[in-house]
Amino acid sequence: MASRSNTRTPPSFDSSVPGLAARHVAREAVATLLGAARGLALEDALAQAGRGVGLAPGDAALARAIATASFRRLGFIRAALAERLRDGLPEDRPHLLALLVTGAAQILDLAVADHAAVDLSVRLAKADPQLQHLAPLVNAVLRRIARERDAIRAQERDPLQGNTQDWLARRWRAAYGDETAGNMAAAHLDGAAVDLTIPRDPEQWAGRLGGTLLDLGSLRLTEVREAVADLPGYAEGAWWVQDAAASLPVRLLAPQSGERIADLCAAPGGKTAQLAVAGAAVTAVDRSGARLERLTRNLDRLGLSAEVVTADALDLPEDRPFDAVLLDAPCSATGTIRRHPDVAWTKTEADLIRLAGLQRRLLDKAARLTRPGGRLVYCTCSLEPEEGGAQIAAFLARNPDFERIPITAERLAGHAELIDGSGDLRTLPSHLGGGSGRAGGLDGFFASLLKRRD
Ligand SMILES: C[S@@+](CC[C@H](N)C(=O)[O-])C[C@H]1O[C@@H](n2cnc3c(N)ncnc32)[C@H](O)[C@@H]1O
Repeated sequence: MASRSNTRTPPSFDSSVPGLAARHVAREAVATLLGAARGLALEDALAQAGRGVGLAPGDAALARAIATASFRRLGFIRAALAERLRDGLPEDRPHLLALLVTGAAQILDLAVADHAAVDLSVRLAKADPQLQHLAPLVNAVLRRIARERDAIRAQERDPLQGNTQDWLARRWRAAYGDETAGNMAAAHLDGAAVDLTIPRDPEQWAGRLGGTLLDLGSLRLTEVREAVADLPGYAEGAWWVQDAAASLPVRLLAPQSGERIADLCAAPGGKTAQLAVAGAAVTAVDRSGARLERLTRNLDRLGLSAEVVTADALDLPEDRPFDAVLLDAPCSATGTIRRHPDVAWTKTEADLIRLAGLQRRLLDKAARLTRPGGRLVYCTCSLEPEEGGAQIAAFLARNPDFERIPITAERLAGHAELIDGSGDLRTLPSHLGGGSGRAGGLDGFFASLLKRRD
């Protein structure tokens, strides 16, 4: 193979070939995340790669599906490719690696004809000045993947061992035991349904939209073929998209009409909407103006209102403490891998340590913003103990004026399995039948309900 070049001439492909632009965008986004741009979310990498390409909505959805499938099975795909490449995986050439990975993902995981997956990948190689000479290699490897698909799939038996980065598998085994960690890795392969929070008349909407009304309150849709914004009820603000687990922290906070409640890391606003629906006077704070614009659009659509403050929560004045505070802290997001499989490949243990430090400071700030007798809910969409139970244990040791209110199963429709040994909420991707198909599973959320003593 030719040596790696640091300056990359952009590929110029024939955009009149159906499906080629979608593959190009998927490949560029995957290459970005496999290369230097760790920390970027796949959604942002796709937006960046699609700039100037002008993808039609159907092609944008295809690009997202290819890129998502690439990360969902990246461990399995890497192993299948490595076995079929004489010189091993081209780790130092992210654009070549991404071309092979996205091609293999189409063949192994998506309803794409093999010849289309192979042919369009080869075309992309030929359109890329750095990869032109490797087009025969791309062709040969992807054809072999297609020919040997059954054998490859038969090897995909243990997703914890074969499809999970070692550092995550090790942590999950330590935190949850081998069996649960294995079930979680299996649930990550399934992807996730679309859950809706429907404040009024959920039965009527379940009738109109189909799906299953979960006993946790959300409506779960497993077969969504159109864009969510085209579903009945979206435009009129009858519901919003929110994983069933993500709706639980606010339920535990139990907002009351007229209470002053601060939502400290609020955007894009799923939990703000829940607080506002309950009639609370919500102050929604986020340091990202762009994300708060989304929150404002969401609240407008839902006919809800909140005081929206663009600020670092750490800088908020403490002179008027709130009746209740919700801190949905920034975190590694390892609880969302079913929906965002890139998280499993782009986050590092160093990110975790950095975020745990920020969570600690935000939690202490949230405590100072809670009035005596008031409630504080801390939550993260993380599976890592440092961002969950360990954070609360350390907080309670530092803040003797706070106590934990243990969560009871009655508050969770009897789901005692969602409560950990300390009385905090601990949902897992393997809960609610996760790992047995798209209809099961929950995002991995941690939440603790705390009270400031009078
Ligand atoms: C997990 S997301 C919040 C999701 C939101 N609660 C919801 O339910 O839709 C975390 C948010 O924290 C914000 N954030 C991170 N650090 C912050 C800080 N120091 N102050 C305020 N917001 C912060 C991020 O911009 C991001 O929007």
